[in-house]
Amino acid sequence: MASWVRWGAISAALACGALAHAALAQSPSLNGDPVRGKVLSQTCLGCHGIAGYRNAYPNYEVPKLWGQSPEYIVAALEEYKSGVERTHVTMHAQASELSERDMADIAAYFGADPLHRQTTPASTAPAAAAVCVACHGADGVGVVPQYPSLAGQHPDYLIQALREYKDGDRKNAVMVGMSTPVTEESMRVIAEYYAGLRPSLKTVPRRLSLLSAGR
Ligand code: HEC
Ligand code: HEC
Repeated sequence: MASWVRWGAISAALACGALAHAALAQSPSLNGDPVRGKVLSQTCLGCHGIAGYRNAYPNYEVPKLWGQSPEYIVAALEEYKSGVERTHVTMHAQASELSERDMADIAAYFGADPLHRQTTPASTAPAAAAVCVACHGADGVGVVPQYPSLAGQHPDYLIQALREYKDGDRKNAVMVGMSTPVTEESMRVIAEYYAGLRPSLKTVPRRLSLLSAGR
């Protein structure tokens, strides 16, 4: 594809994205109960509460969830539950057990302290990430709560997710379009950039004084 054609397509997607940002930012709060969410999330912590825990085949680190927004966590869980947009077998099994209420409560717990956008620009994103910052921020914080934060995420997970969009294993239309032109080399540059940003997403802490249920 001629580069100006691709750039035209991306500009159009970003213009739509700007309209979508405004609409998404106004969606109602999920009103989950973080204390019930903490109790429900005990099985999740067997993977998401252990720093460095890895998915076996293919081999990559289980994503950090602490610091994501509740809205994104619920959206991701719904996609695993349906099994269409995201096909990961274990997460499909995990999410299948959850009702809408369970998802909102778990998201209120994991998303109790979401990352905030930086008021002063963080670092300058590398050229490979120039398009990405429109939604994921130069600071790696989603510009609306429906877009995932990437700051401090495991770099091998970021690459895995990008490959899944590119190969069609993840079917989110925006990200399939965004990942298609990205080369393996650019994926590494982008993943290294976002993984290095602070403040950072974190592995879910196993004990929190703020939320004491379920100890
Ligand atoms: C056996 C390990 C394991 C368990 C248990 C587990 N997860 Fe996961 N989770 C994963 C892996 C691996 C991924 C990445 C899957 C992929 O590549 O899409 C993931 C992805 C996720 C994501 C998407 C993160 C993102 O950045 O998009 C969410 C949200 C999530 N898990 C929540 C949960 C919840 C809630 C539970 C408990 C009900 C749970 N997980 C239990 C391994 C696990
Ligand atoms: C128009 C907004 C938009 C743009 C631009 C965009 N993204 Fe995304 N990105 C999203 C949304 C929405 C999701 C969640 C998709 C889903 O539900 O699977 C996402 C998901 C991701 C994920 C998975 C995160 C996780 O925790 O699983 C990665 C990695 C990612 N994007 C990287 C990029 C990169 C790299 C670029 C630039 C090449 C980019 N994105 C451009 C909106 C965008």
